[in-house]
Amino acid sequence: MAEEHTIAVLEGDGIGPEITAEAVKALRAVESRSGIRFHLRYAPFGGRAYFETGASFPPETQKVCDEADAIIKGPIGLSHEESKKIPTHQQPERGALLPLRKRYNTFANFRPVYLPPELAHFSPLKPEVVGDGINIMMIRELVSGLYFGAKEEGTGENGLRYVKETLEYDEQQIRDILHVGFKEAQNRKKVLHNVHKSNVLISSVLWNTILDEVAVNYPDVTVKNILVDAAATAMVLHPRQFDVMVMENMFGDILTDLAGGLVGSLGLMPSACIGPHKAYYEPSHGSAPDIAGKGIANPYSMIGSLALMLEKSFALTREAGWVWEALRAVFREGYATTDLADPELGYKALTTSEFGDMVARFIAF
Ligand code: IPM
Ligand code: MG
Repeated sequence: MAEEHTIAVLEGDGIGPEITAEAVKALRAVESRSGIRFHLRYAPFGGRAYFETGASFPPETQKVCDEADAIIKGPIGLSHEESKKIPTHQQPERGALLPLRKRYNTFANFRPVYLPPELAHFSPLKPEVVGDGINIMMIRELVSGLYFGAKEEGTGENGLRYVKETLEYDEQQIRDILHVGFKEAQNRKKVLHNVHKSNVLISSVLWNTILDEVAVNYPDVTVKNILVDAAATAMVLHPRQFDVMVMENMFGDILTDLAGGLVGSLGLMPSACIGPHKAYYEPSHGSAPDIAGKGIANPYSMIGSLALMLEKSFALTREAGWVWEALRAVFREGYATTDLADPELGYKALTTSEFGDMVARFIAF
């Protein structure tokens, strides 16, 4: 019997549906070339889901996700004005995305920063800094830290309004993500950059203590410790010194967007969010409501997320390779998405769906 998988498809908000459609084209191409069957189950999620159903992560969607073998998810989030129409706790980030992460304990967030030679000149960095490309795997802890710690707001005795947000980790959570980092380093260049702020935060002190304990299991991996602020500078000045980086949630949120700048567009930043029993795949960027529906969104991050799904959820390494290779081929042939097609570089701009069509054609080849 042919291999079969059920995928939950959460299109999200803004450019979400249009870039998801392109990832689905790529998946259909993989299906026809490999003979593997993918059953897609669409479900509402995010701001649109709130307006349609009254919940941004509705119970029916939870069920579809529970039953799926993997989840592919477009970006969520509304414009500032639209967001204000939704109660704070139902807004798509707090009401849908964080609960999704928590529900499946997707603690390991892989964000590849991948700029192969075909794309190297899209980086705003000088050619001598980029060399023949950038290839970093950033690993971000995704279900703890400031994002999920206890919160409090009120008015103090002095009459001033205040908030408290807590950066919480227990040693198991730290250990789990560090193991992920070490294993990834073992499979790559055996160098792990540990990003921390132990000169100020005691959460980083515990983190680094656990790191020393975990490191004993990986004698072949060299650890390089770097403070998070210094890491931001070093990533811009010498990005090629990094191979695998591991960090807590909030540091990872910020530094992975910085990485999007290094490669020239957040549209080139896919991601995988892996839990013990379930994984979901999403672009690292937001829903860009200002350009939604115009056919100019870059679907690369969404198609790249699909490639990560093939690889990480189904061990379809060969099929994932087809997708990465097709993405590169589009650029090699002189085409690019609108955000990248600087006329001075001589690229022909493709609409969102033209890009997806071309990727699908290269996969099917
Ligand atoms: C990301 C995003 C999310 C985050 C937002 C949409 C809540 O920026 O995945 O990096 O902060 O984690
Ligand atoms: Mg972010």
